[in-house]
Amino acid sequence: MQPLPWADDVSLAGRNTLRIAARAAAMCDVRDPSRIGEAFDLAAMKGMEVLVLGEGSNVLFAADYPGLVLCLTGDDCRILEQDDSRALIRAEAGMLWNELVHWTLARGWNGLENMALIPGTVGACPIQNIGAYGAEVGEFIETVEAFDRASGRIKRLSNSECAFGYRDSRFKHERDQWVITAVEFRLDKTRPLKMAYAGVPEELVAMGITEPKALHLAEAISRIRTRKLPNPALVGNAGSFFKNPMLPDAEANALKATYPELPVFPSGVDGYKKLSAAWLIEKAGWKGYREGDAGIAEQHALVLVNHGKASGAELLAVARKVVAAVQAQFGVVLEPEPRILGADF
Ligand code: FAD
Ligand code: EPU
Repeated sequence: MQPLPWADDVSLAGRNTLRIAARAAAMCDVRDPSRIGEAFDLAAMKGMEVLVLGEGSNVLFAADYPGLVLCLTGDDCRILEQDDSRALIRAEAGMLWNELVHWTLARGWNGLENMALIPGTVGACPIQNIGAYGAEVGEFIETVEAFDRASGRIKRLSNSECAFGYRDSRFKHERDQWVITAVEFRLDKTRPLKMAYAGVPEELVAMGITEPKALHLAEAISRIRTRKLPNPALVGNAGSFFKNPMLPDAEANALKATYPELPVFPSGVDGYKKLSAAWLIEKAGWKGYREGDAGIAEQHALVLVNHGKASGAELLAVARKVVAAVQAQFGVVLEPEPRILGADF
């Protein structure tokens, strides 16, 4: 068997969409999931922790990473079962998420279209239960296959075992226990399209579409996203840097009474409402803020941006100021969405 492709002292600059010029002590690509245990053993021999990294679109490196960065490169995708209406599709962790969306749509399988153009890999999609424009990936996941560090074996977790919530799952809480190797999605052609999210009907009209199909919806959402969010290839960012806060109904209603323009949404959890963090940040005056190369995007107040050479620590400093200002003005504590490495938030 070939030795695993191990490299020491690797730049992470091109491996995170915030474009932070951090370094990792080592990096190793693994295509065959049966060799994940070997990578962990090698890291342990060198006294290194292990970080599983996908496309790096939801991480902030506040410092160099002193351990092994493990990347899963298997990107096979296939249909396991199908009949006239339903299919079960299996994709390996290293496949790019947006490629999977279009792979399924090209074969007539609806479902993932609302999440078109979300960056990242299939392996990361269950971690925070990615979601956009009225859909969350947890609605479609039947099974997550993952290497369990405790037993050194690959296990299959059912949807309910993954404990999906808003930007949340079991994997976020048992952070270093699981390495997701593949995800199986249940898609249903007869599922009605979800087109109600603000701006989507207008975009379809602007495209001249009167009888939208799933592909049209994916295109409309991709157009909106391209306008709304900075492109990480041009300006470093990790999408929304903060989660939308969930507040008990009474507190959300009280804030809404004081600020009638505040967008308040159902949260999906009884007794709680979701507020727009972007609105709170903009209202507090931080949209477009800049301090050196670190700042908040002009287009969208939820997006922390690296205009060039900002370090992770400089970006974190801006994020902390935003949290303090929003808390001082509205009494709401914002939580970061990306994983922060090398510092406590
Ligand atoms: P990484 O950033 O590499 O990793 C994220 C976390 O997952 C880390 O903790 C990492 O250790 C862990 N991880 C990665 N792969 C594995 C694996 N195989 N097994 C175990 N753990 C793993 N997110 C949304 O939900 N909705 C959006 O609309 C959205 N829009 C975005 C727009 C932009 C411009 C950007 C830059 C980001 C956006 N995001 C959005 C966030 C991001 O795209 C998702 O969180 C995505 O799933 C991250 O994938 P990744 O491969 O880049 O993960
Ligand atoms: N808004 C502002 N100021 C801004 C931007 C938005 O006040 O600068 C207000 C808008 O007026 C709107 C509300 O905020 O009423 C919601 O805005 P948007 O539709 O852009 O959604 P969001 O809540 O800001 C969430 C997700 C995004 C996802 C979009 C679309 C979170 C943390 N973010 O953003 O996900 O793409 O909805 O569904 O839930 C990500 O997670 O990285 C991400 C980009």
